[in-house]
Amino acid sequence: MPFIEKANGKVLVFGLGLGMVAQALAAKTDVHTITVVELDQELVDMVGTYYENYSSKIKIIQGNAFTYHDSKSYDAIWFDIWDTISSDNLPEMDLLKKRWKKKAPIRMCWAEKDCRWMKKNGPPLDLPLLLFKTYF
Ligand SMILES: C[S@@+](CC[C@H](N)C(=O)[O-])C[C@H]1O[C@@H](n2cnc3c(N)ncnc32)[C@H](O)[C@@H]1O
Repeated sequence: MPFIEKANGKVLVFGLGLGMVAQALAAKTDVHTITVVELDQELVDMVGTYYENYSSKIKIIQGNAFTYHDSKSYDAIWFDIWDTISSDNLPEMDLLKKRWKKKAPIRMCWAEKDCRWMKKNGPPLDLPLLLFKTYF
């Protein structure tokens, strides 16, 4: 995944999910800290506790990506809060990336390339095939 390859130093992640991104980041020696902001308190308690025990680099915080404030700067930020791949996500992606512009040189969103493709071309008839070709 391009973000995992590029990320280094202090990383901020919005959206915990199953924690796969946090785990992949923790495995990188050039990533020093991973702060994850997750909306769902139950996920923070269940999945978050697991990953905080898994790696001392990982810290999980309950919060909303659209209201979360942080005085710190980061080296990279990953926005991964969307359940679906849709061009409807683009205004939120643009808003979040703009809001955090001064806080990190690298700011990327999950499946942004696909969402932009859909805005231009409409939804693909075979979304699973498009995803497979994009990521594998
Ligand atoms: C697609 S999952 C993330 C997948 C994750 N990166 C992984 O490695 O498994 C989306 C996550 O974002 C969370 N989420 C949704 N809206 C959010 C918001 N406004 N702020 C923070 N987290 C949010 C969801 O609860 C869910 O855990």
